[in-house]
Amino acid sequence: MKQNLFTSIVVFGTTVVLGAASTLAVGDVANEKLITPRAMADALHLVMDSDRTIYTRKIVNRLVKKDKVIKASEHFQDDKALALPAQMFRFGSELVAKRADALPDVNFSYSLQSLWPVNRQNAPKTEAEKTGLKYVAENVGKNYYTTEKLGGKSYFTAVYPDIAVAPVCVSCHNDHKDSPRRDFKIGQVMGGVVIRIPVDQ
Ligand code: HEC
Repeated sequence: MKQNLFTSIVVFGTTVVLGAASTLAVGDVANEKLITPRAMADALHLVMDSDRTIYTRKIVNRLVKKDKVIKASEHFQDDKALALPAQMFRFGSELVAKRADALPDVNFSYSLQSLWPVNRQNAPKTEAEKTGLKYVAENVGKNYYTTEKLGGKSYFTAVYPDIAVAPVCVSCHNDHKDSPRRDFKIGQVMGGVVIRIPVDQ
């Protein structure tokens, strides 16, 4: 993943240098389509996954499991509790979808899914999602990249492993009444983040 990002940055850097030589305005460089869908997905995922990890470790795991001062609950408003990491993730994704509607150049969507979902709505739907989730669960440390056609449109689709980064990930899923799997361990793949970018011209 790092290597891929690095390559794009180098390509971008080279273009900036060439651009300067041929007096290309900074504005033009900023508008060139130089970042590949894969590099874009990798960068987006890095931000999402870091935010998700920090929320789980520094907020949920610390306050729920270590200091035991508050609970995390699906009904966090009624229960006056913390929102679950997966809910934080979905709220962000819903707000992105809403805000991206007003930005013609910004076009992507993302979701958190699993082959063992607590919430059935988070089960994979397309063939690419199913194959990707299986791949990231069986190939530790690897991401899955493919293209798919949905409703006549072509998409670049990336699936990244979602890992049990804190003890609270494991305990909550293993104990949850709706969980179809109860043997998760810390460090294991629990699901995946799917990022989809349209690639039609
Ligand atoms: C306090 C309980 C709790 C904690 C902590 C928690 N989860 Fe979840 N998780 C849930 C619930 C409940 C859902 C379903 C939420 C929804 O979509 O309504 C869920 C959803 C998910 C999903 C989507 C598939 C599914 O099961 O519905 C994944 C993947 C996931 N969690 C992984 C993790 C990981 C990794 C962590 C730690 C970083 C974590 N969870 C922390 C309870 C928890």
